[in-house]
Amino acid sequence: MMSQRLLVQPEAIIGTLFALVLGRWLYNYLRVRLEVLGLPTTHSLFELFESGIRSKLPQTPFVSPVASLSLQKPFEKYANAKTDLLAFTQATTPYAVYATANPSVAASISNKPAKYVKPVRMFRYQAINRFGRQIVSAQNGEEHKRHKGVVRACFGKEIMETGWTTMVDAYQVMCREEGLENGGILKDVKEVLAKVTLLVIGSASFGVQFPYNSSTSEDALMPFSDAIQLVETSMIFQLPLPLWLMTWSPFPYLRRCAKAQRSMVKHINEMIASRRKQTTALQATLSADEQVLTQRDILGALVASQIQVEEGKKKNTAGLTADEIFGNAFIFIVAGHTTTAHTLTFALALMALYPQTQEDIVQELASVCGDEYPTYRHMSKLPLTLATMYEALRL
Ligand code: HEM
Repeated sequence: MMSQRLLVQPEAIIGTLFALVLGRWLYNYLRVRLEVLGLPTTHSLFELFESGIRSKLPQTPFVSPVASLSLQKPFEKYANAKTDLLAFTQATTPYAVYATANPSVAASISNKPAKYVKPVRMFRYQAINRFGRQIVSAQNGEEHKRHKGVVRACFGKEIMETGWTTMVDAYQVMCREEGLENGGILKDVKEVLAKVTLLVIGSASFGVQFPYNSSTSEDALMPFSDAIQLVETSMIFQLPLPLWLMTWSPFPYLRRCAKAQRSMVKHINEMIASRRKQTTALQATLSADEQVLTQRDILGALVASQIQVEEGKKKNTAGLTADEIFGNAFIFIVAGHTTTAHTLTFALALMALYPQTQEDIVQELASVCGDEYPTYRHMSKLPLTLATMYEALRL
């Protein structure tokens, strides 16, 4: 009886739905292909621009054509195509991705945040929100201004100078710990510079003295330095996988990743709580100007913003929530750590490849600073050293 009453067969419903989905996909795909018409274009099945993933995938034409992406031999790709604009289309996304080698185009995009809004719905932005909302995934405009407003004052001359002095101190710790006080060969440059940079960020931006070598123990928590470095190198798992899945995974590496994440969260929370306590205690004794000085590092600025909102000194719309303070503390460590460590690593590697430039830099440092360590004030007198760092960054 029931089947007689059904006017539309289930197969017909499924067929119609399938046709609708396929039609929509085809419409989007053709629209995107039309948009890139005339440009050198690489087609793939998935979007492969998440940098952690793309370098690890095998070359498979149309599915993961990693060799055609602009990551490998980028200059050759633009030169061969005789253009500074390349297009990438994906069968699974309703938009094209463009890569440019033109600095004016890049500058124009960076300078017009209202026109070129961030695609904050994308996985890369949504995924980092799991550690709290922060400046990187905040949409351009009011939301971004609110995050930036809190930390803006931290990026003046003062923090650069502190960063410089801290780097000189960290360099001396490195020489001592690596047995290089009387010269020698620095091994595992990337790992060593990751440790050095963490000392600098910890001290200059968070007012925390991390140890150079962390003691490996079987404790329930990892030391902060180990935890953050493992979280950074395992982002490919940390971002998509839930913590419980990694915790109960049969793979020891994933279980370590989970431990690293739990440890990192606990340590960052402790850093925030301890600075809050310190700031609240100091507020009673310091003048308004002195209080501003305690907010000149990133952790100080983040914590002060929350206290000011709670005390009604700042509007809710100008401060950050607890979740956002954690998110920003996390992102500032991650954004500042590997970027700086890898830039220094590449700069050293390039100097090893160009020993004459290295020798010229040594001469420049000797003529300007003599036997002293260079200070922040020497920077403008070290054009070759500065140009070498710029060139390493450009490359
Ligand atoms: C050589 C070292 C560095 C390099 C190469 C570098 C590179 C970059 C790049 C390319 C962006 C733009 C990303 C985008 O818009 O998609 C960016 C943004 C950012 N960087 Fe760095 N960075 C370095 C050091 C640092 C340091 C030391 C910190 C913090 C202490 C930091 C914190 C940030 C933050 C918070 C953003 C997001 C800014 C915003 O959305 O307004 N970076 N960085």
